[in-house]
Amino acid sequence: MTSEQINDKNQLRHLISLRKLDRSHIEMIINRANQYLTPVGLPPSRDTVLKGKTVANLFFEASTRTRASFELAAKRLSADVLNLDVNMSSRAKGESILDTIYTLQAMQIDMFIVRDASTGVPAEIARHVLPHVSILNAGESDVSHPTQGLLDLMTILQHKDNIGSISVAIVGDVKHSRVARSVYEALSKFGTTDIRLIGPEELLPKKGFEGARRYTALSDGILDADVVMALRIQRERFTEEGTIPNPREYFQRYGLTEETMKNARADAIVMHPGPINRDVEINGSLAEGPRSVIAKQVTNGMAVRMAVLALAHEHSHDN
Ligand code: CP
Repeated sequence: MTSEQINDKNQLRHLISLRKLDRSHIEMIINRANQYLTPVGLPPSRDTVLKGKTVANLFFEASTRTRASFELAAKRLSADVLNLDVNMSSRAKGESILDTIYTLQAMQIDMFIVRDASTGVPAEIARHVLPHVSILNAGESDVSHPTQGLLDLMTILQHKDNIGSISVAIVGDVKHSRVARSVYEALSKFGTTDIRLIGPEELLPKKGFEGARRYTALSDGILDADVVMALRIQRERFTEEGTIPNPREYFQRYGLTEETMKNARADAIVMHPGPINRDVEINGSLAEGPRSVIAKQVTNGMAVRMAVLALAHEHSHDN
């Protein structure tokens, strides 16, 4: 059984990582997502494309945005949806994730949306499911969060022309951030070369992010940036408790505010994948102010997840 993300008919089969997708495949997803956007105040887009299909949400890590939007996306496409309560599942009795998948697959589930703290889990599942079944990665350790990368790219494209020549500053705990990795992969496919990683030395990644520049001073890193993205400190991924930055000191050095944003371009947008820790990585008035596109990121996330589900269904339909 193959785990390739794109099948031999050029259809999306699984979504594991943006790293191995071509720009054309990313454009295919974003173009479809654009079709699912509706103007503010109008009802959300609905479709019957997944009627008769069953989608399972398997979140082995906490989530609000990703889990809720995948559930709503599947329902708005007319699928049946199972939200497995993982704390009450037989994984707590020692059942492996593959045995959990085999059990649910026998209940004729067509798509699995998986978030897990361990690296490689979505790809491993994808290697073992039946040919018509799709695996969609909803967050994998600190490695990959492809739908977040797609919704971030979609949001930037809505606000910035000439994406190849913009400056994108990513501020905070880049080292532990799957969001940063996926948005870097998405931007790189679209030719953005000026990507800056800003944070204390211990939160900047030693490897990966080829071509990105590292900064430990916020004012230098966001100078004339077109896009400034704040990241949460991922306390749950620190292996040594003593190394977690003090929130007050961190905010003084790296917190985004109207004042610190003065170094960025006047039309710079402010992004955050959520969840936000106010007055740690960003203050409330900036997060809710006119530069902020954080709510648009969430709305675009709905459209991206509808697009991914609908496109993966086209694969499944042909099998
Ligand atoms: N951005 C993001 O993944 O948020 P959740 O953890 O709430 O899904």
